[in-house]
Amino acid sequence: MALSRIAALQFKNALRQPARFMSTGAGKTLPSFSMQGKVCMVTGAARGLGYEFCRAFVQSGCTSLAIVDLKEEEAKTAAAELELFARTDNDAPEKVNIIGIECDVSSERSVQKAFGEVMSTFGRVDSVVASAGIVENYSAFDYPFDRIKRLYDINVHGSFFTAREAARNMIPQGGGSIVLVASMSANIVNIPQPQTPYNASKAAVKHMASSLAVEWAKKGVRVNVLSPGYMLTKLTKTILAHDQELKKTWESLTPMGKMGDPEDLSGAIVFLASDASSFMTGSEIRVDGGYCVI
Ligand SMILES: NC(=O)c1ccc[n+]([C@@H]2O[C@H](COP(=O)([O-])OP(=O)(O)OC[C@H]3O[C@@H](n4cnc5c(N)ncnc54)[C@H](O)[C@@H]3O)[C@@H](O)[C@H]2O)c1
Repeated sequence: MALSRIAALQFKNALRQPARFMSTGAGKTLPSFSMQGKVCMVTGAARGLGYEFCRAFVQSGCTSLAIVDLKEEEAKTAAAELELFARTDNDAPEKVNIIGIECDVSSERSVQKAFGEVMSTFGRVDSVVASAGIVENYSAFDYPFDRIKRLYDINVHGSFFTAREAARNMIPQGGGSIVLVASMSANIVNIPQPQTPYNASKAAVKHMASSLAVEWAKKGVRVNVLSPGYMLTKLTKTILAHDQELKKTWESLTPMGKMGDPEDLSGAIVFLASDASSFMTGSEIRVDGGYCVI
């Protein structure tokens, strides 16, 4: 399984045109957008948006990165895959160290252990993204309480544990940037699928970021939110697998008329995680094809 994913990437790389990535080279952008020299850590990064954030960091010069996810094998496979990408596709310098760490973000102990591993490997942590999250669609009357609790444990408490541990490690080193991944659902109510606890969890994440931003503003730790609209990832593909019409509905409700590609978030995540956003804290960037403005 692990090997076939890497073999598929090697094949994909062979088909790619190198110029696509060279145009984003360090000399062609503001230096503050660079992730060079930054130690980065992303939760929920074995796949989906989290993985794309990691890829964006590597493309922006990051050579020390931790991919954190529920299953150790998946985290390590993703790390190996991205390291291969960095070396072959992205002309990264010889010393790229991408590690995969097993962690259940709903457990504070597990989050602390993951940070311990990052600190013992890299000695510091500069940019942390909390992307681990789940969504489920039940009407309010039908939603089993144990599942609601699990959703809040991951989406809300998981984000809190990740942010708190990040700040604990960042403050002694002089600061850092934390990005919590919320959703446009923090701002609007999605239709037609019912998902009240998810929407409420993302609104909580958004206000959590503002509150933590104020607590840590003078300690050099910034906390911002990235709120995607409908993006095509495994999470949404699972929902759409049961309902072909739903994709058309989502697209028709989005002014740009389409779902986003995970890569559409790359610029925003690098901006928030890097020094390019150094006077920004407690803010939200929505990347949703215009969904929230109509
Ligand atoms: N895809 C979208 O359209 C969309 C839109 C808005 C917001 N988001 C948010 O973006 C984030 C990422 O979504 P995605 O589409 O990449 O989802 P995804 O399901 O493709 O990936 C989520 C990752 O999180 C991991 N994860 C789940 N529970 C975990 C836990 N307890 N501990 C550690 N890792 C865990 C999963 O194993 C998976 O690798 C989520 O917070 C989601 O709510 C997604």
